[in-house]
Amino acid sequence: MAAPNAGDEPGVVAQPVAAPLSRAAVFLVVTINPGPDSEAAVRAFCADLAGLIRAVEFRDLEAGLSCVMGIGSEAWDRLFGEPRPAELHPFREFKAGARHAVATAGDLLFHIRSKRMDLCFEMAMQIMARLGTAVTAVEEVHGFRYFDDRDLLGFVDGTENPRGQEVIDAAIIGEEDPAFAGGSYVITQKYVHDMDGWNALPTETQERIIGRTKLADIELDDAVKPSSAHNALTVITENGEQRDIVRDNMPFGQVGSGEFGTYFIGYCRTPRVTEQMIENMFIGKPPGNYDRLLDFSRPVTGTLFFVPSATFLDSVTADGQPAAAPAAPTTDSSSSAGNSPDGSLGIGSLKGERNHE
Ligand code: HEM
Repeated sequence: MAAPNAGDEPGVVAQPVAAPLSRAAVFLVVTINPGPDSEAAVRAFCADLAGLIRAVEFRDLEAGLSCVMGIGSEAWDRLFGEPRPAELHPFREFKAGARHAVATAGDLLFHIRSKRMDLCFEMAMQIMARLGTAVTAVEEVHGFRYFDDRDLLGFVDGTENPRGQEVIDAAIIGEEDPAFAGGSYVITQKYVHDMDGWNALPTETQERIIGRTKLADIELDDAVKPSSAHNALTVITENGEQRDIVRDNMPFGQVGSGEFGTYFIGYCRTPRVTEQMIENMFIGKPPGNYDRLLDFSRPVTGTLFFVPSATFLDSVTADGQPAAAPAAPTTDSSSSAGNSPDGSLGIGSLKGERNHE
């Protein structure tokens, strides 16, 4: 990675962006209702989030509950104004032919993960109870882990995620935006699949669309992998360096109504990288050489949020402006969503691990 000093800010505790892949997740997106009272209620909530997480987490400490809160571009202006994170903006739409990466409403994102769905559910319930009439839920997806980390299309999803230090280098803002160091940007898209169409394809055709073998999850040799393969279009290189994002996609569905999908969620220290991937998938690289996955799967939502550090959230007050620069060094791991035992960015040994138990 070219960018130096990712997440090295002393005393700043990141939110648990890099929590390990979990068995269950709830993705909750809300809009903030009109009026200064709603805005004050959300600001007051920010510093209370860590306490809510501790309360739910304590019911089963082994279940690895984590919750990341993201704030959308317009919501940031309503809640905090200036200064604002350098690259925060609304979700960018991409459209070509029948393919459309839509932008949808969303002021706050809660990405809740645990080994236990009941803990995720409880956390979501406590958040909504605490926010009360200040917000309106616009999206709620309950994701589950499917067999060996497969999406409902049958392919293992997440293999080429960065691991170890690469997670922090990819996802956590460093010295490029010092006032918001320890933060991250997250993009989400809810994709629904045409399962009948997909399942009618021969396995070899599916494999050339994804760029990996289905059963063994091995990357196709460059000699046979098309330049339109999903894992060809989503590899981004800048100045000779590959730029990664940290994904934690989850399958979801409703068997009765025939809804089957993948909830895409990608964290990055700059939204530019994720946007480039989406552009390559939808417009194509070169234009027209698009991701054939999109012939069988389409996004019905699209949102972009800034994920401030846990230290920042702790510093927010209901009526005043928060300290945009990192607050005084925090070594009390129990007081933040980051769960850092050493006062660092709170990512610890969890980064990049594929630990489900
Ligand atoms: C229907 C939605 C999607 C599905 C089912 C899906 C599925 C997959 C699968 C099966 C892989 C191969 C295994 C792996 O390395 O994880 C993969 C790789 C990847 N996907 Fe997706 N994906 C979806 C959407 C997206 C989107 C919207 C992005 C980016 C904005 C994205 C970015 C990536 C990246 C960066 C890789 C790794 C490429 C590599 O380094 O080899 N995916 N995806």
